[in-house]
Amino acid sequence: MRRVAVNLLKEGDILANSVKSSSGSILLAKGTRITENIKNKLPHLGIAFVYIEDKNLPYLSIHEIISEDNLNEAIKTVKKGSLKNIIIDGVQRHTRENLSLDRLNFIVNNIIDELMENNLILASFAELKLLDNYTYQHSINVCIYSLIIGHTLKFTRTQLFQLGLGALLHDIGKTKIPISIINKPGILSQDEFEKVTAHTILGFEIMKTAGKLPLLSAHVALQHHERLKSSGYPRKLKGDAIHPFGYIVGIADMFDALTAEKPYRPRFSIKDTIEILQSSSGNLFPQEYIEKFLQTIIIYPLGYKVKLNSGEVGVVIGQGQNPLTPIIKVLERDSYQILDLGEYPELFIEEVIYE
Ligand SMILES: [Fe+2]
Repeated sequence: MRRVAVNLLKEGDILANSVKSSSGSILLAKGTRITENIKNKLPHLGIAFVYIEDKNLPYLSIHEIISEDNLNEAIKTVKKGSLKNIIIDGVQRHTRENLSLDRLNFIVNNIIDELMENNLILASFAELKLLDNYTYQHSINVCIYSLIIGHTLKFTRTQLFQLGLGALLHDIGKTKIPISIINKPGILSQDEFEKVTAHTILGFEIMKTAGKLPLLSAHVALQHHERLKSSGYPRKLKGDAIHPFGYIVGIADMFDALTAEKPYRPRFSIKDTIEILQSSSGNLFPQEYIEKFLQTIIIYPLGYKVKLNSGEVGVVIGQGQNPLTPIIKVLERDSYQILDLGEYPELFIEEVIYE
């Protein structure tokens, strides 16, 4: 089986796993054949990805990172939409460390409850989605990566809650900036650049005036573009003057932003993104946080279909020593050859195939 984004499903694809609603009831049973009607309904149910059968992988069972039991447990705790599921699922898929599901649920529940119960913040977050879906999706990813780094650094539940909430809302100030400037292709004028950089201060103010939100979460919005040697903005802080949450969300932000296509540049490959992050160590960010992130992150979760520099296509079936070198099953070779990319320095993953 392999994982497919619902918009890339084809008529006739067969579900390899059942699809469940946020309340845990089965919407589509394993073995269901995808029709145009089903394909169109899935996004409205908050389902972004499903697992389908793949005839090229008949004898291979890919274990999901989340067991069915864990998934059911997570689903039971979700009461307000799919956002909790997406964050919990994302953290579990992308981290090598064992994170107790109870602890993760507790933290993510608190983050989403805080979001849902604060009308002003919820309205701003909804506005962000409406104005700029990329930034909305990006905010969720930044929350996922930040929680992973914070967990690796052994933060307490309270710290993870403050960090995760700040990460989810780090770009909320962009709702106050014209979308034409945020998505402008080409170089920004000085005036436009100043407007963009102001999203940090605006975000801080939105969160501070929203009432009852942790001040540290608001500082994440203010500090996520500050850099170790004062090359960041808006206050050109440096070193210890920048809170660890500011650095962590900065790293998560950079990682996710570089791997996305922007109006003014194509996406960077994961390999180049990791190299850029490594070169930023001790320069833009403290070495410790970059190291922790790269040690813990799973970049290619199980079931991802990837293309190698040799032109061959494979599916990720295990994690290797290095986030860039997972164990893959090559689809086009005879005898279902399995490669640990860590043992083949000449081979690397060129891109993830979303189809
Ligand atoms: Fe930002």
